[in-house]
Amino acid sequence: MDFYEAVNKRRTIRDFENYVIDDDTLERIISAGMRAPTNDHMRDWAFIVIEDQSVTTELLQLIPKEFSEEDMENLIRDWNLSDKCQQNCYRDAVPKQNRMLADASLVIIPLLKQKTDILNPDSLSHLNGLASIWCCIENIFLAATAEGLACNLRIPLGMEGEWARKTLGFPKDYLMPCFIGIGKPAKDARIVEQKEFDVKEVIHKNKW
Ligand SMILES: Cc1cc2nc3c(=O)[nH]c(=O)nc-3n(C[C@H](O)[C@H](O)[C@H](O)COP(=O)(O)O)c2cc1C
Repeated sequence: MDFYEAVNKRRTIRDFENYVIDDDTLERIISAGMRAPTNDHMRDWAFIVIEDQSVTTELLQLIPKEFSEEDMENLIRDWNLSDKCQQNCYRDAVPKQNRMLADASLVIIPLLKQKTDILNPDSLSHLNGLASIWCCIENIFLAATAEGLACNLRIPLGMEGEWARKTLGFPKDYLMPCFIGIGKPAKDARIVEQKEFDVKEVIHKNKW
């Protein structure tokens, strides 16, 4: 697949069909992630790839399975989501937070080795490790797209990150930036409308 085709086709998918991802495909996708730029040249990343549904179920225990209409209306109000396109995205995404990972072929937990206190940074450069693994995550998403697959992600809320550490047993000096669900899009997978942009409007030549 051509680079721009992969970029344009990559969309967050939260509805998957039943599908097995073989190890060769998985390794190509993770290798693409490992090619991403990294702040200190070290690529101190690791990936827990969960294929055992019982581990996934345990891992996702803290993520709500249901979200009522009323809770959604409250969320939209409390988070000041006034943009209709953004509201539509949240209306689709929020109730699927558990299912989009539970139904994925694999759940991938990317891990970065913490060399600074990322959760209490005192300069922008203390966030470099986090920034680097997000480059890696985007490469993974693009590679998955090129393989005819798709991904979603969830930022761990509350105790979800610590629960993941306990369940999966990764070391204290590794930080999990997100959960990734990867799989084959369902035939009727919802692709929410993307916020449109005019590229000419976001480019400021020479000065703002
Ligand atoms: C930093 C970051 C955090 C995100 N957090 C979540 C999340 O917690 N749950 C979720 O379903 N999607 C999450 N997303 C996915 C976004 O909702 C999605 O990328 C956005 O709506 C644009 O849609 P697209 O990816 O299909 O272009 C996150 C994306 C990013 C980059």
